[in-house]
Amino acid sequence: MKIELSNNKVYYNNGTSVEEIHPFWLRERANGEKFLDEKTQQRLFDPTSLSVDVGIKNAKIKNEVLEINFNDGVNSKLNINSIAQEFSKKDNVISSIAKIKWDSNLKNIKNFDYKTDLSESKEMYDVLTTFYKYGFVIIKMVPTENNYLVKFANSIGSVRRTNFGEHFNVKSKPSPNDLAYTPLPLAPHTDNPYRNPVPCIQILHCIVNEVNGGSSTLVDGYNVTETLKKENPDFYNILTQVKVRFKFIDKDVILEDWSELIKLDEYKNFKQVRFSPRLDFVPILEKKELDLYYRARKKLSDLYNSEKFRIQFKLEQGDLLMMDNYRLLHGRTEFDINEGNRFLQGCYIDFDSTEGKLRHIKRKFNL
Ligand SMILES: [Fe+2]
Repeated sequence: MKIELSNNKVYYNNGTSVEEIHPFWLRERANGEKFLDEKTQQRLFDPTSLSVDVGIKNAKIKNEVLEINFNDGVNSKLNINSIAQEFSKKDNVISSIAKIKWDSNLKNIKNFDYKTDLSESKEMYDVLTTFYKYGFVIIKMVPTENNYLVKFANSIGSVRRTNFGEHFNVKSKPSPNDLAYTPLPLAPHTDNPYRNPVPCIQILHCIVNEVNGGSSTLVDGYNVTETLKKENPDFYNILTQVKVRFKFIDKDVILEDWSELIKLDEYKNFKQVRFSPRLDFVPILEKKELDLYYRARKKLSDLYNSEKFRIQFKLEQGDLLMMDNYRLLHGRTEFDINEGNRFLQGCYIDFDSTEGKLRHIKRKFNL
């Protein structure tokens, strides 16, 4: 990637082709103190009020700086490396952390110990990088009193409040409105697939765990669906195409959203899984199509539920598990309520929290 000049035009050369950069693209990046607030990097002018026919009177490159005089009288100095960076066309902090696919062989994942200033420390960078690589991270010895979970979540970003409140308590209770509040096993699922938008990240904090069962289970939905793509492309394709209805009914709210079980981004890459087979309703399709759909969903469920893809571990008092609800499925093994107390607290945050914190820590420590 190189910035070049010819006849007062600016070009970028990516090694295989040479293209002119639109003068207006450069003009709206004018960055003197009159044009750009240094602290926020926000514009002090509205580019839509300028003539789109703005041109370049003259331009030169000196010491990695592109200096331009525009024909509307404005002069600007742009660092050519920052121009080059814009050609990646995507966020280069989060997307540069490659996802690591995992299954039951995953061993020795690094846990982190809690400390009071964790969220502003350099270690937070490792915590969040681990989260983005594996889709989850565990922090140990997080204080368990006074709903500390919410304080923790707000130290990374902002709690995503839902109709269940700021946080929820996972404890067996009489007349439960969800299987989570019974001692029954919970098969791998994603949370709240009926919300628009679905909460991005679930944080679970173990307040007390005295029972022998009740282990937490996690499955890497990214690895499972990439495996399905390779081994059963027809199944994969239909599950990325058919939108199903997810619904949750409670006494004062009805939540509903439609989505594919495997959602892809605009480049046809993995974006999100939703899986909660007690809550999904497939629309009426042609019988042949439904036949393929049901076989595909069964295969996907078999993979999600197989031991090959599942890790299982017991959360101890003070352990805090932060997991990507768009990538991972989570569940729990059965336990006996007569053995003792089991009490977890949970809440949600969204990706803007973790992304914003990661960029901030990277800037703060110049990482
Ligand atoms: Fe859940």
